[in-house]
Amino acid sequence: MTSNTDLGPKTTTPDPWIIAIHITHNCNLTCDSCSDMTNIGLNWMITKDEFVSWIKNWNERIKPDQFHILGGEPTLHKDLEEFLYIARELWGPDQEIRLMSNGFFVDRHENLGKVLKETNTSIDIGLHSKKEDYLGKLKDNILLMKKWREEEGTTVNFMDFTEEGSGWNPSGRTWRRIYKGYGASMLPYEDNDPEASWENCWMDGARCFQLYQGNLWKCPPITYLPEAKKKYGDLLSEKWDPYLAYEPLKPECSDEELMQFWKSECLSICSMCPAKTHYIDELKNPLMSVSESEKYYQSTEPVT
Ligand SMILES: C[S@@+](CC[C@H](N)C(=O)[O-])C[C@H]1O[C@@H](n2cnc3c(N)ncnc32)[C@H](O)[C@@H]1O
Ligand code: SF4
Ligand code: SF4
Repeated sequence: MTSNTDLGPKTTTPDPWIIAIHITHNCNLTCDSCSDMTNIGLNWMITKDEFVSWIKNWNERIKPDQFHILGGEPTLHKDLEEFLYIARELWGPDQEIRLMSNGFFVDRHENLGKVLKETNTSIDIGLHSKKEDYLGKLKDNILLMKKWREEEGTTVNFMDFTEEGSGWNPSGRTWRRIYKGYGASMLPYEDNDPEASWENCWMDGARCFQLYQGNLWKCPPITYLPEAKKKYGDLLSEKWDPYLAYEPLKPECSDEELMQFWKSECLSICSMCPAKTHYIDELKNPLMSVSESEKYYQSTEPVT
């Protein structure tokens, strides 16, 4: 017999070229070393005008393998269903579109299963803990999404990031440290070997460009680092300053600049990421609040 939190077959994603858009930075969880730095209690929701104009800046010039809608936790945005229709209209019928969510609030959107099916959008649900309290809060929504799968024909992929050989990388564990520590006291790795950091990039061969403020950015941590700076100001170590100086690609760029950006591999900013893989042996409970997480990090050995 399968339990109501049995997730079914594992789903993996082979090295795609992705454009991802945050529709909110808000998140209900505080996952260790969140790649998008949205584990620190940020507060921002995209407007419909921003969503439309940012996509229009690029949709006639580029054709990503996948377009991702995420955050933070995208199901916290009240207009999620409308964004799914807009994304399909702007990217056209052939574009692969995926919604990435932790699954906690899918039930807040009355027609989400149907809208996902109608817009040919798949939903990837990241499972970030197997702790009893976590699964207890999620189990009704897991059942709901299985029902969408059976009754609406919605594509629902459950990605269990807590186990070896799950999530993005079928050959090993996926969840790893991208920076040291948490919140105001987080630090870049700076192992002085950006090539090794690039080779070791947590994206495992995928290129996950971000569409934010109308511009294109190399990867999630470089895009959302300025949001951590806005929150913490001078409390954030000046070791982040060289990375805060990163300039994204603007829509006025030439075709050559766009091609160069698209093909770029290692950049000097890759120094902020670890040159060696640091898997997290015991994931912190993502249900901890921001202040509980700060205390947790203060009470554990400093991360090296
Ligand atoms: C930033 S979250 C946003 C969407 C949604 N909140 C979720 O958790 O699925 C998107 C994805 O980033 C990836 N991610 C974030 N932090 C990571 C880490 N430290 N190691 C590996 N993958 C990570 C996971 O694939 C996660 O599902
Ligand atoms: S659920 Fe976890 S991984 Fe996803 S945005 Fe929130 S803190 Fe980051
Ligand atoms: S800075 Fe480089 S190594 Fe780090 S996440 Fe971005 S692309 Fe990957």
